[in-house]
Amino acid sequence: MSFAQHYADHIKHLRALYGSALTETCNACSAILLHSGTDQYYYADDQTVSFRAYGHFTHWLPVNRPNQLVLIVPGDKPVYFQVVPRDFWHEQNITLEDWVAEPFTVYLLESSSEVADQLQCLGLQPSQLAYLGENTHYATAIGIPPAAHNPPALLDRLDYHRAYKTDYEVACIRKANRIALEGHMAARAMFENAGSEYDIHMAYLRACNILEEETPYTNIVALDEKSAILHYQYKRREVAPQSQVLLIDAGCRVNGYCSDITRTSTREHTLSLFSDLVEAMEELEVGLVQRVVPGISYLDIHIAAQQGVTEILLEHGICHGSFDELMQQKISTLFMPHGVGHLLGIQVHDVGGRQINTLGDIKAPPSEYPALRNTRKIEKGQVFTIEPGLYFIPQLLNPERNNSQQPERGKLINWDLVDALIPLGGIRIEDNVLVTASGVENLTRVSI
Ligand code: GLY
Ligand code: MN
Ligand code: MN
Repeated sequence: MSFAQHYADHIKHLRALYGSALTETCNACSAILLHSGTDQYYYADDQTVSFRAYGHFTHWLPVNRPNQLVLIVPGDKPVYFQVVPRDFWHEQNITLEDWVAEPFTVYLLESSSEVADQLQCLGLQPSQLAYLGENTHYATAIGIPPAAHNPPALLDRLDYHRAYKTDYEVACIRKANRIALEGHMAARAMFENAGSEYDIHMAYLRACNILEEETPYTNIVALDEKSAILHYQYKRREVAPQSQVLLIDAGCRVNGYCSDITRTSTREHTLSLFSDLVEAMEELEVGLVQRVVPGISYLDIHIAAQQGVTEILLEHGICHGSFDELMQQKISTLFMPHGVGHLLGIQVHDVGGRQINTLGDIKAPPSEYPALRNTRKIEKGQVFTIEPGLYFIPQLLNPERNNSQQPERGKLINWDLVDALIPLGGIRIEDNVLVTASGVENLTRVSI
């Protein structure tokens, strides 16, 4: 099925969702005005930050432009106020595919200030509206009272439901995976040819046919020791004939929906222990994906990842002692200090990951795993990442060499091996998965 067929159903679903969320949370409101956002400028500069539309706006409309508005009146066809200013400095035209325009009544305006008159023509008072968006000055200017700006109870409902993807959303994420996989193949080939981090990054972008500003997050392209920096943001220019490890974490966007994929590769001359660790982590990651099933908690997958890393540390002689002792001392958190993944959608770390109900109640992660971004029950329709890691991070490991408070921890670590592995950085393997009625579908492990 094409995007077009799925999109009509997606909008139908959103109309019902927004209708009931409005009725349940806001007696005074009879409509919602959703704003894509406004251009932001660097401080004391006339240059804008690369624009990214508000997530709840993108949920309705794949138009990544500032000052676009969607009006949702329950029971009515939604309205898209398409704002195309007169401007000879920039391209302002918006090309809408028919399948995108079809579910909306589209009004073409030159300025977002014209929306006030449009609302009046539609028989709506600004005091009846809830405004969702970042520019509350704009909302005030068109007469929407501050109490109706981003009402928390309404947003709690909408954030919570973002976790459950419609077929349209899954199709977008599926395609974002396929495109990113092309990039990962090109990146790997460049690494094998001794390319620099910069060369690998450019090979990725070219293979995906995207601009840097179109990626869902700053590509992480790390050779050797830099792969132990979880969100390493630079790209070294030097060619790297002796490089041993590439960790690349890079995705794509389709209609605003993200993929988020990490691969760790080695070369023929890579220290064999490290290559063995990569193989073991691949196996662990595939096994974790297979565990995903509706009804369990995402935390269960995270704990299984920490256990799996502990077993790998023992099997490869990086730690000694018993499995139970290592778990009790939380040794694996020194090697995998992040969560096993997060909800994925319009935002790479999608909203609502720690929200356990539509009322906005939060379930914090356990104190030993503070970085875990998803504490929800696993349910059909959710899309999230599974991304175990194993890194040699001097900042975390060095304090354990002579830790007078907890000397027993350092004794469990084989420091000679750790010293040999620190120059090689770390490993992360990351896939994107869809929860089905009875299990899971891996959206990343597909043939392209
Ligand atoms: N790309 C960032 C992450 O994996 O969470
Ligand atoms: Mn991720
Ligand atoms: Mn990632």
